[in-house]
Amino acid sequence: MSLTNGASSSTAIDSPLLLPCGITVPNRVAKAAMSEQLGERSGAPSQTLTRLYSEWGRGGAGMLITGNVMIDRRGYVEPRNVIIEDERHLEALGNWSRAGSRAGAVMVMQINHPGRVAVGPLQRRPVGPSALRPQAPGFNLRRPRELSVADITDLRRRFTRTAELAVAAGFAGVQIHAAHGYLLSQFLSPIANQRSDHYGGSPENRRRLLLEVVADVRAAIGPGAIVSVKLNSADFQAGGLDEAESLDVALALDRAGIDLLEISGGNYEAPAMTGVVTDSTREREAYFLRYAQELRSRSLLPLMLTGGVRTLAFMNEVLDRGAVDVIGLGRPFAVRPNVAADLLTGIDAARELPAAPRIPVPGADPLNSYLQLAWHAANFRRIASGVQQVRARGALRTLATAGTTVTARALTQF
Ligand SMILES: Cc1cc2nc3c(=O)[nH]c(=O)nc-3n(C[C@H](O)[C@H](O)[C@H](O)COP(=O)(O)O)c2cc1C
Repeated sequence: MSLTNGASSSTAIDSPLLLPCGITVPNRVAKAAMSEQLGERSGAPSQTLTRLYSEWGRGGAGMLITGNVMIDRRGYVEPRNVIIEDERHLEALGNWSRAGSRAGAVMVMQINHPGRVAVGPLQRRPVGPSALRPQAPGFNLRRPRELSVADITDLRRRFTRTAELAVAAGFAGVQIHAAHGYLLSQFLSPIANQRSDHYGGSPENRRRLLLEVVADVRAAIGPGAIVSVKLNSADFQAGGLDEAESLDVALALDRAGIDLLEISGGNYEAPAMTGVVTDSTREREAYFLRYAQELRSRSLLPLMLTGGVRTLAFMNEVLDRGAVDVIGLGRPFAVRPNVAADLLTGIDAARELPAAPRIPVPGADPLNSYLQLAWHAANFRRIASGVQQVRARGALRTLATAGTTVTARALTQF
């Protein structure tokens, strides 16, 4: 692919995008979901979390997608996730949505259930589509209980309730997390889902729950709010959800009337989503692009591409070609909260955006992921306190503090 120098096409990234629901996103840069671990013990969003979104809101992004918010306190992904089950945190949620949207960004709440990868070890037995433990090392992973159809109906109701509360609190809509090996992604996976009822077996059955959740959420929040889905282009795992089937899921989501599909990849057993498996910038920038292009040739569903995108030249190239509609950035926002403003005002098109330093622990992907989370969690606190550029120089020291903080928080969660 030939990359142009972004200077002449920099309008692409600052052009507004009208979503099917009627909401306009002011530009094409979105902060992708990053778990902030800044909930209160009660599950409420904390004031630090609200301050973090004030900083990000001022940073120029067209859309801010929150870190994953849990729909059920019996299963969360990281300690101190925000958990929204009922109206008790509405006021704090309103503060959170206003903080992010005050300068014009569209605030979207990502909603999630971890399924069989719920945090342990003190949590009650996790649940999953089938009673199969993930084939990944991890002290927190254990054999889940298979969900009954009544449990599934309850989960559908919970996704819907959390979405309704998000919109009631001022969020423009929700993103349903169906990627990265969490519950809805587990249902899609032929490895994790070996059910013999109408939620398992055929591809149509495995995608049934996701499509039901999308339909329920849309019915509850109405045609004028955003319903987005984050989907794996593939699980990057032999026997997992493959690219061809993922494309079929995307087309079904298009028919179901979603507003925005975010394309990602990987799970706990094969963590491709944070680029651990790739090396060159060009490769990283392209890891989900091929899929996006294939989908675009078959559908006009607005697409967001996230994962390793690091140069303005590349962003303008893929926007100009119409391959995708929104550029998702995760880790650069954890280093520089106003990275979107830098892009919009036209930084050097070929310059790579800063992101977290690699903290390599050879052969230990779960530990690498844990350290990444810890490093980022510490940075989110620093950004909330007004730091504009987190310096990589302090990474090791930050990591030591972060490790202690995150572990302490994990121990006080229960
Ligand atoms: C610290 C951290 C937390 C993350 N939490 C979430 C999350 O809650 N939900 C989600 O869908 N993705 C999550 N991700 C993945 C990002 O949304 C994104 O897909 C990934 O970081 C790749 O984009 P990037 O290369 O621009 O960072 C997280 C990533 C990081 C680094």
